[in-house]
Amino acid sequence: MTIRLGDIAPDFTAETTEGPIRFHEWKGGSWAVLFSHPKDFTPVCTTELGHVAKIKQEFEKRNCKVIGLSVDPLGAHHEWSRDIAETQGKAPNFPMIADADQKVSKLYDMIHPNASDTMTVRSVFVVDGANKVRLTITYPASCGRNFDELLRVIDSLQLTSAYAVATPANWHHGEDVIVAPALSDDEARRKFPRGFKTLKPYLRITPQPNK
Ligand code: BEZ
Repeated sequence: MTIRLGDIAPDFTAETTEGPIRFHEWKGGSWAVLFSHPKDFTPVCTTELGHVAKIKQEFEKRNCKVIGLSVDPLGAHHEWSRDIAETQGKAPNFPMIADADQKVSKLYDMIHPNASDTMTVRSVFVVDGANKVRLTITYPASCGRNFDELLRVIDSLQLTSAYAVATPANWHHGEDVIVAPALSDDEARRKFPRGFKTLKPYLRITPQPNK
């Protein structure tokens, strides 16, 4: 199944390292990052899971839960967690889905047969509080993900959901933003009392409104 931005993230039940879950019930009204790992006991995934465990509080600050997935059974996940703790200094402190029957991987189109028949690619889905898919990224198995980028996009998504703005290239929280092109200058003056700079009629810059 192809999942596109704006779709409702498909619900599912799964066994995880923190017990059985139903996805929508588990996430509740929080945001969530669902990310897949090609296989247990693989080097890149080992570094990714240790890294996410160390920065989990950054996701929590953004009211965002994290949940991993790998197409191996629960026993393997638990054994691998011990390796992750040993080599990365921190074991996963979030649920890892044991998707040995590939039910969730197939539901989310995480297996790309021309890349591999058996392993998932490195998929990322960011899902908002209303269960809508807000970001999808697909990395190849050989490239570990940039989790700072995920946090950056979550900041942008949460800001642009609350204010009539968009964020420019390489934007980070606290930097100036773009006034939504749909707003007239009069509307923009009302919404952004600190004013805005007009570089072009379609490119107006204002300080981040909630900073
Ligand atoms: C890894 O996680 O290290 C990995 C997984 C599959 C293929 C290549 C690398």
